[in-house]
Amino acid sequence: MDFVRTIKNEKLLSSYNNCISDLIETEIVQSMNQYIQHGDITCLDHCKNVSLKSYKVCKLLNLDYKSAARGALLHDFFLYDWHIPGSHVGLHGFRHSKISLKNAEKYFELNNKEKDIISSHMWPLTLRPPRFKESFVVSLVDKFCSSKEIVSHMFNKCVTVPFKSGQSR
Ligand SMILES: [Fe+2]
Ligand SMILES: [Fe+2]
Repeated sequence: MDFVRTIKNEKLLSSYNNCISDLIETEIVQSMNQYIQHGDITCLDHCKNVSLKSYKVCKLLNLDYKSAARGALLHDFFLYDWHIPGSHVGLHGFRHSKISLKNAEKYFELNNKEKDIISSHMWPLTLRPPRFKESFVVSLVDKFCSSKEIVSHMFNKCVTVPFKSGQSR
């Protein structure tokens, strides 16, 4: 049973990689690895998490999983560290979806669904609602992954800090 599951997972991962390989292999997408998104998770790892989970959900729901995987991989393609004052103009939460879309259009050719996924992923904070089911899925998966990343970082901090101080004594 485990063997069957492993084969299924490998097939799924390889089909997922086929959808995003031309994007993820580029230097500019890899450069997201230098920016922290939540806790100790980089923008690249966060986008990969959202992309793979959105791919799985869309595949399950018989939606356009390829556009979901590609749009999700670029949904936080804003290319700066939002924690550093002066790294960006205006309020990051409200503006970064537009900036990510502008960057993504500069480097890659996107279809309308991928564009919508990037520009509407912060809905309802930004007023622009998703126009496609895939955009709605990515927006929900993004919120789920972000919350999980933040909570797990806070938990690790609470658990490791007392342990470290205990060790130093
Ligand atoms: Fe975002
Ligand atoms: Fe995100």
